[in-house]
Amino acid sequence: MERAQAKQEAERLRAEINRHNRLYYVEARPVISDYEFDKLLERLIGIEKEHPDLVTPDSPSQRVGGEITKVFPVVVHREPMLSLANTYSLGEVEEFCRRVEKLVEAEGGRRPEFVAELKFDGVAVSLLYRDGVLARGATRGDGMRGDDITANLRTIPTVPLSITMPGGPLFGTPVSEIEVRGEVFMRKEDFGKLNEARPEEDRFANPRNATAGTLKLQDSAEVARRRMSFVAYYLKGPDDGRIPHLQRLRQLESMGFMTGGHYRLCDGVAGIAEFIGAWSEKRWTLPYETDGVVLKLNDTTLWDRLGATAKSPRWAIAYKYPAQQARTVLREVVFQVGRLGTITPVAELEPVRLAGSTVSRSTLHNFDEIDRLGVRIGDRVMIEKSGEVIPKVVGVVLDERPEATVAIQVPDACPECGTPLVRPEGEVSLYCPDESGCPAQKRGRILHFASRNAMDIQNLGESLVAQLVDRGLVDDPGDLYRLEKAQVEGLERMGAKSAQNLLDALAESRKRGYARLLYALGIRHVGQATARELAHAYPSLGSLREAGEEELTAVPDIGPVVAASIREFFTRSWVKAMLAKLEEAGLPLEAGGPKELVNRNFEGLSVIFTGGLDRYDRQRASELVLERGGRIVTSVSKKTSLVVAGSEAGSKLDKALKLGVRVVDEDEFEKML
Ligand code: IVH
Repeated sequence: MERAQAKQEAERLRAEINRHNRLYYVEARPVISDYEFDKLLERLIGIEKEHPDLVTPDSPSQRVGGEITKVFPVVVHREPMLSLANTYSLGEVEEFCRRVEKLVEAEGGRRPEFVAELKFDGVAVSLLYRDGVLARGATRGDGMRGDDITANLRTIPTVPLSITMPGGPLFGTPVSEIEVRGEVFMRKEDFGKLNEARPEEDRFANPRNATAGTLKLQDSAEVARRRMSFVAYYLKGPDDGRIPHLQRLRQLESMGFMTGGHYRLCDGVAGIAEFIGAWSEKRWTLPYETDGVVLKLNDTTLWDRLGATAKSPRWAIAYKYPAQQARTVLREVVFQVGRLGTITPVAELEPVRLAGSTVSRSTLHNFDEIDRLGVRIGDRVMIEKSGEVIPKVVGVVLDERPEATVAIQVPDACPECGTPLVRPEGEVSLYCPDESGCPAQKRGRILHFASRNAMDIQNLGESLVAQLVDRGLVDDPGDLYRLEKAQVEGLERMGAKSAQNLLDALAESRKRGYARLLYALGIRHVGQATARELAHAYPSLGSLREAGEEELTAVPDIGPVVAASIREFFTRSWVKAMLAKLEEAGLPLEAGGPKELVNRNFEGLSVIFTGGLDRYDRQRASELVLERGGRIVTSVSKKTSLVVAGSEAGSKLDKALKLGVRVVDEDEFEKML
C-alpha cells in the first residue's frame, strides 16, 4: 500500500476501533462481534508493521502490550495523591456534613451540596494527558511519588489513549495538560477467569490483590491478557476551579472515560443516607467490587479553601460498608491434604446464613493463623465474606468463651497416610512429604489432571476418584488410560453405561494438546499461562525434561522459584513412572502434530462462514473447524468445500448457491463437528 493511502486507512481504522472499544466497554452495547473487532485490529497492526513511521502513541495497536519494563521510573505527582478519611458510621458522615456546612456558612456561602459516588475497590492511579494524548500513568506510591506504569496502563481498554473534547477544549480554555485520577480494578468475571487459570497455590485472594499484582508486572503483554478496567473519579485541568465536581464527572464521560455512572447529587444528610442505604445490597449485583460510598463537596471552589490534613482532603469522606459478618460456633477442625501435600486446617462450623448463602465450613489457612486468632474448638467465632471470596474466620468472641473449649492440636502426622509432617524453612504450612504414597495427594493430582482447564475428563468426580485410588486401580493420572470397563463397572454407583461414559471421556481427553497436558501434570507454580509459555519454548516433553534451571528462567513468566520447581518435578521417580504411562497411552508429549486435533471430520475441507451463528461467535466457530483439520477461507470460489450460513447471510451465500458450493446451516454444522 502507498504511504499516503496507508496513512488514511490507518486513521480510519483507529477511529473505527476506538468507536467499537467505547461501545463495548463504556456503553456496554457492542455492535460487532469480537471476531470482527480482532480483524480490524489485525489490519491496523498489519499496516503499521509495513509503515512503522505511521504508528502513533495513541494507536489502539499500542494496547496489546509487549513492552518490558525492568524498573519502573519514579515520578513526582503534580499534586499529592491524597487518600480519604474512612468511616463505618453514618453518624460520622453526618458530622462531616455539619462540619463542612459550618465552614461554608462561615464564609457566607449557601448550604453545600455533595456528590455521592460508589467507592471502587481497586488501585488508585493518575493519568496525565498532554495535548489530548496519554503521556504518563502512575501509581499513587507514597502520595508524593509513584511508579511510572504507563506501558501497563495503556493496555487497559477503558483507559483512553487520547481524549476528545466535544464542544471545544476543556471548560472553554485550551488545555495542554490535564490529569485524571481513578481506580484500576478487575471485574469479578475477569478475576474468576484469571484465578481459574492459575495454579491453586498461587491464586489471588481477591480482585484488588490481583489488580495490584498485575499493575506491577514487567511484561505488559501479560498485563493486557489479564483484562483490567479503569473508572475515573477526579479531573484536574488548569483553572478549572469553578467547575463543580458533578459537571467534571460528566465531562469525564464525554471525554471517553468510564465513571460507572452511579453517582448522585445530594443536598444533605438525608439524601446521602438514602444513597448509602440503596446501594448496601444493590452493590452485589454490580460486575465489580465496591466497598463503600465516597462523598465529595460539589462546589470545587471550596476545595482549596477547606484544604487537607496531611493524609486526606477535608472536602471528602469515604463511608465503608461493614464487612458481611456472622457469628457462629466452631465445632471441629479437620485437616485437609492438598495435591501438593499442603495441610490446611478447615473449620467446621454450626451452619449460619451469610451474604446470601449458608456457611458451614471455612478455611483457617495455616497454623500461624490459628495462633494469631487464638481460636479453640467450641469457641464462638466471627466469620466474614468479602465479595466473591470464600468465608474466613476473623475473630473469636472471647467474652463469651464457653468453659469447655479445646485447643487445636497441630498434627504431627498426615491425617491420610500417617507420615510425619514437615515444615520447610521459611514456610507457614505443614506438608505431608510422602508424594507418591499419600492417597490424598494421589486423589488431588488426578482431580487436577481431569479438571476442566486441564484434560477436561467428564464424569471423573471426587467420589469416583476416591474409589479408584482406594481400590488400588489408579495411582496416578497415567493409570487412568489403562482402566478396563470391567474394573470400572464393579465400582459403587457405576453401571455398564456410566463405565462406558468414563472410558469415552478418557478417549476424548487424549486429543487435548500438549500445552494442556503440561498444565495437567500439576507442577507446582505452573498454571495455564506458564504451561503455554513452556510448550512454546520446549515443544517436547523430552526437551523440557533436559532443561536446566538457568535456561528455564529465560522463558517469559518463569523466575527462579518456578524454574526450580520444574527441575525438581522431573527428578521424582513417581513422575518418571507416570510420564512413561502417559507416553504409552499415546498422549501428546510434544507440540503440534495430528494429536492436537479433536477429530478429522473437516480434514481437507475449506470452510467459509457467512451471517451470524446463534451458538458460537466467529472466532470459536473457526477454531472448531481448525481443531478438526479444516481450513478457513475468506472468499467463496468453486474450490470452496463448504459454506456455513447463519442468520442474515449475505452475498457469500448467493455466490455459493450460484457456484453450487455445499451450504449448511448451524444445526448441520454442529452435527458435522
Ligand atoms: S476520590 C482526593 N472517589 O479510595 C480524593 N476515591 O480510601 C481522592 N476510591 O485512594 C480519592 N473509589 O483509591 C475517590 N469514587 C471514588 C473512589 C475512590 C475508590 C479509592 C481511591 C482512594 C481510596 C481512599
